Order: sequence, then C-alpha cells, then structure tokens
Amino acid sequence: MRIVILKDDLAVAEFGANYIIESINKKPNTVLGLATGSTPIRLYEKMMIANQTKRVCFKKVTTFNLDEYLGLAVGHPQSYRYFMDHRLFNHIDIDKENTFVPNGASDNPIADCTHYEEYLREKGGVDLQLLGIGSNGHIGFNEPGSSLASRTHIAVLSKETISANKRFFSVGESQPHLSITMGIGTILESREIMLIATGANKAEAIKNTIEGPVSSSCPASILQMHPYVTIVMDEEAAKSL
Ligand code: GLP
Repeated sequence: MRIVILKDDLAVAEFGANYIIESINKKPNTVLGLATGSTPIRLYEKMMIANQTKRVCFKKVTTFNLDEYLGLAVGHPQSYRYFMDHRLFNHIDIDKENTFVPNGASDNPIADCTHYEEYLREKGGVDLQLLGIGSNGHIGFNEPGSSLASRTHIAVLSKETISANKRFFSVGESQPHLSITMGIGTILESREIMLIATGANKAEAIKNTIEGPVSSSCPASILQMHPYVTIVMDEEAAKSL
C-alpha cells in the first residue's frame, strides 16, 4: 500500500487527476473505474481542464462507475448517472456509449447486476479504479458487515450513509435506502486502485483502513490485501495515523 499525504483537498485533486491522466496517456484505451461523492469533484474538474487543453484524450477510454441509487428516475439530479454526466462526461471527449453506470431505474435490477459484471469482463476489467471512502469505511456502497468477496449486487444503505448523503436531497424529498454497487470482490479485481480521502470526518475510517485489522467492519481495510493500491489524503484525513 502506498500512502500519499498532501496539504489539502486541492493538492489531492491535482495529484489524483495527474495520476489518472498519466495512466491514460500510457494506455489510451484504459478502463477506468470511477466514483461519485463530493471528494472527486475537484479531481474531475482538473481532468476536464486537462482534456480541454489537450493534455489527455478520452476517445478510447471506457468507464465503469462503482454504484448508483436504486429507485431514482432516469435523469434525477441526485442519481450518480446525472452526477457523472454533469461533473465530467458532458465536458470531455469521451464516447458516452463507453460510460457505464449501474441502472438505478431498472425493472430487473438483479439481472442488471449480472449484466454489469458481464460488461466489465467483456471490456477486459478495470485498469485503474478510483475510490472515495465513507466515514464508516464503506467503499462503493459496500457498508460495514458486507461480504468481502461480493460481486455487483443490491445493497441496503446504512443509517450513517443515509444521514451523510441527506445533504444532497431537498427537505421532504424521499431518499433511496437501496443501491446497486460493485461488490468488494469486483473492486479487488481492478489491476490498480487509488483511494482519495479529504477532511477530518474521514480520519477514523482512514486509520482503520490502513492500520486496522482486515475486517468487514471497515470494508476499505480489505485494500491492504491488494498488491497495487495508492491512498491519497490531505493532512486532516491523515490526522489519526
Ligand atoms: C457515497 C458513495 C461512495 C463515496 C462515499 C463518500 O455514499 N457511495 O462511493 O466514496 O459515499 O462520499 P463523499 O466523497 O461525499 O464523502
């Protein structure tokens, strides 16, 4: 596990974006695993600028997102598909056909989980997976107590995650309690993983991820078993190490 501690969230975004850009420049048909949440927003802005200034080209890149809320209508502004389109895909030269996000409006989400795994296999698997981390140590929507070998599946969100993500929904708006997420087994098959974390509210999860036992009580701790992981954080997220 390589640990990178930087001054602030801007430095994390810069480092993370450059890391991804270099990977794409080395392998233009890279398969990227992508994450949502507030942490990667600035990193995506930096990738957009790099694309607009011709430092990187996404024409041959394929992306697979980690997760999606289950039960939000297509085009819902809180869906992760909407987030990815508006925060990244609409602003870069990627072919939208090559951007995969689990379908949270599916009539048959169980079958869709199997199809998601099939698409991933067809595209040769993820070369570089970007991860955020929940304050309870979740990755994707694999909450504490999840199987460490799981594949893409329907997951129930923990109370902690529902309350952490409440800020994105308007008062009185119903918030999904279910999601479709790549499983931990799926994530671990990525050839390389970069997890980014910023802010003091991630310090406990980061400590458990890096220094704790490998345990489903902190799903991200399984990353200790992966041969090629980089964890990039700011000083606040590193403060309990
Ligand atoms: C969300 C997502 C995760 C994300 C995490 C942290 O619930 N499912 O993929 O990494 O929580 O989000 P944030 O970056 O907003 O703290």
